[in-house]
Amino acid sequence: MGNDRNLPSHVGIIMDGNGRWATNRGLDRTIGHREGASAVRRAVRASREKGIRALTLYAFSEQNWGRPGSEVHALMGLLQEFLVGERDEILGNGIRLRAIGNTNRLPTIVRALLDGLMASSKGNSGMTLTLALSYGGQEEIAEACRVLASRVVAKEINVEDISTGALRSAMPSLEVGDPDLIVRTGGDHRISNFLLFGLAYAELHFTEVLWPDFGEADLHDAITAYQQRERRFGTL
Ligand code: IPE
Ligand code: IPE
Ligand code: MG
Repeated sequence: MGNDRNLPSHVGIIMDGNGRWATNRGLDRTIGHREGASAVRRAVRASREKGIRALTLYAFSEQNWGRPGSEVHALMGLLQEFLVGERDEILGNGIRLRAIGNTNRLPTIVRALLDGLMASSKGNSGMTLTLALSYGGQEEIAEACRVLASRVVAKEINVEDISTGALRSAMPSLEVGDPDLIVRTGGDHRISNFLLFGLAYAELHFTEVLWPDFGEADLHDAITAYQQRERRFGTL
């Protein structure tokens, strides 16, 4: 178990491996997603108890819309259940809920639940939980460019004002700061379009554990590994 000093302030998790977890057991992929939703509950609770200030969970990528309609439908149903079922847990523990990504694409009912819970939790000062939904890192960079370009057109800023800081300020994913630690479960060593701009100096932790099996001990392992890294940010 890691110590509580030098905790990562912002942790991002690429929650991968639900489908394989189910397929390995001869079950339908959607059962894996259901188990994955339980793992989300455990991870949120463990992160909060550990004292993580911000947790960003990659729940559904912009590219995941390309999956079969039945799987997308099942995922949206689980998201809806999560937002109803976790309402008390979120509000009762001072968690602030946010969403990043193209949430306009989500079903109306999911968006309504999301908007309601974000509004109710917005004054909370405990952990900030950000759900990346219909999210893509490249898409977020393009959107930030559009925002800054339109400010130039409106003569609010000059072209020279388009700095890395200005881009960062235009990215909702980084409102809680750049991620310090990115965890990916499921054994693949890639980023899959998550937090691309912010992860410039993030520590990366890859584990073979499939997301439905991810528990408190795995989170502790990831944090302990982080605490043993030396971050240099390009300096000596
Ligand atoms: C992650 O699990 C959940 C989402 C991407 C929505 P996957 O569904 O990608 O599971 P694998 O990678 O196929 O095992
Ligand atoms: C990344 O997993 C997206 C989420 C975990 C939501 P994917 O399963 O979609 O990524 P690839 O296809 O393996 O790169
Ligand atoms: Mg996957």
